[in-house]
Amino acid sequence: MQLLILPGDGVGGEVMEGVKRVLQWLRECRGLDVDVHEEPFGMAAWWAHGTLMTDETWQRIQTADAILFGAIGSPEYVQIPAEQRRVDWLLEMRRSLDLYENLRPVRAIDALLDASTLRPEVVLGVDMVIVRELAGGVYFGQPRGVETLPDGTRRAVNTIVYTTREVERIARSAFELARTRQGRVCSVDKANVLEFGAFWRETVQAIGDSEYPDVEVSHMYVDNCAMQLVRDPRQFDVIVTENLFGDILSDCAAMVTGSLGMLPSASRGPVRSDGLRAALYEPVHGSAPDIAGQGIANPLAAILSLAMCLRYTLDRVNDAVLVEQAVERAIVAGARTRDLAQPGGTFLSTSEMTDRVIAELHP
Ligand code: NAI
Ligand code: MG
Repeated sequence: MQLLILPGDGVGGEVMEGVKRVLQWLRECRGLDVDVHEEPFGMAAWWAHGTLMTDETWQRIQTADAILFGAIGSPEYVQIPAEQRRVDWLLEMRRSLDLYENLRPVRAIDALLDASTLRPEVVLGVDMVIVRELAGGVYFGQPRGVETLPDGTRRAVNTIVYTTREVERIARSAFELARTRQGRVCSVDKANVLEFGAFWRETVQAIGDSEYPDVEVSHMYVDNCAMQLVRDPRQFDVIVTENLFGDILSDCAAMVTGSLGMLPSASRGPVRSDGLRAALYEPVHGSAPDIAGQGIANPLAAILSLAMCLRYTLDRVNDAVLVEQAVERAIVAGARTRDLAQPGGTFLSTSEMTDRVIAELHP
């Protein structure tokens, strides 16, 4: 198995140090046999090579069995000529590998109830997965762009596009997942206003009726869903939604766990000819420029993303559970990075938090 590590920008590199250490532990203590390669990505690639994407890196991205990704985004991109900056290489990876299925589990950890801004009785027991469509919708739709009108003012356009096939395959992902959980899918759209929304709703319902009669389907408008996520998040098992809605709703749902720094994700493509699926594992959060360089980012979302890689790509479920339990034990023992600590309270650095997780790993 070939793992490709792309630390990326901002806190991406900082949290990926933790991932590399856990990976090393798994190789030494659990006999994990993987070929790990790292490439600079984002500003680091620019500084190393004078380009944001080299042919070699792109080749490795196309052939890796799994990519462990940190984050993209930095104020420093203004230093790069506009033409070179035009491509968003994270979106380009998602598009070229057809990573349509983005799984974002959101689970409340009892020992972290005090870190959430929501009341403990609202958060207790929350266990849901947001299934976000990741390769279509407004992030990729054409036409797009900004044009200057004859009167000198400007006009900006983006387009939400989905085909039957695209909605059906993400619906199937959600239904399959629901079968392994509580058997409930809530499909989220804006069917009352947008044509694509009504189409999304009909298509998900049809797949449910014809292929998954054992799974309960419900539908919710996205604005209501945002409200329900903070009113009563326990009502959800699997949420399936389009790209932009999933992006927004998962940041919102992060507060259930206390911090965006706790949410992992897995993105997968269709089954390839070798039976595997292209996969990219990354924390839900971005490069957090407000805290980058301070060594205080929470590495747990990235470490939990590695656990998802162990489970889904490497077929090492026992190791995945080991890592997840180590994270939970570290938290139960009181380990807190700044995002999880009480205001003004003491907290651990990124590397100290990683130390605490590794101390809780038992071969
Ligand atoms: P963000 O997720 O980077 O940060 C939002 C807030 O959460 C900030 O206050 C940040 O300090 C905090 N936060 C994020 N990760 C944390 C961690 N591990 N530990 C502790 N606190 C954490 O989103 P923002 O600020 O909207 O975007 C910053 C940059 O990241 C932008 O350039 C954006 O485009 C990019 N971005 C990249 C993503 C990716 O690489 N997949 C996803 C989201 C944003
Ligand atoms: Mg987001």
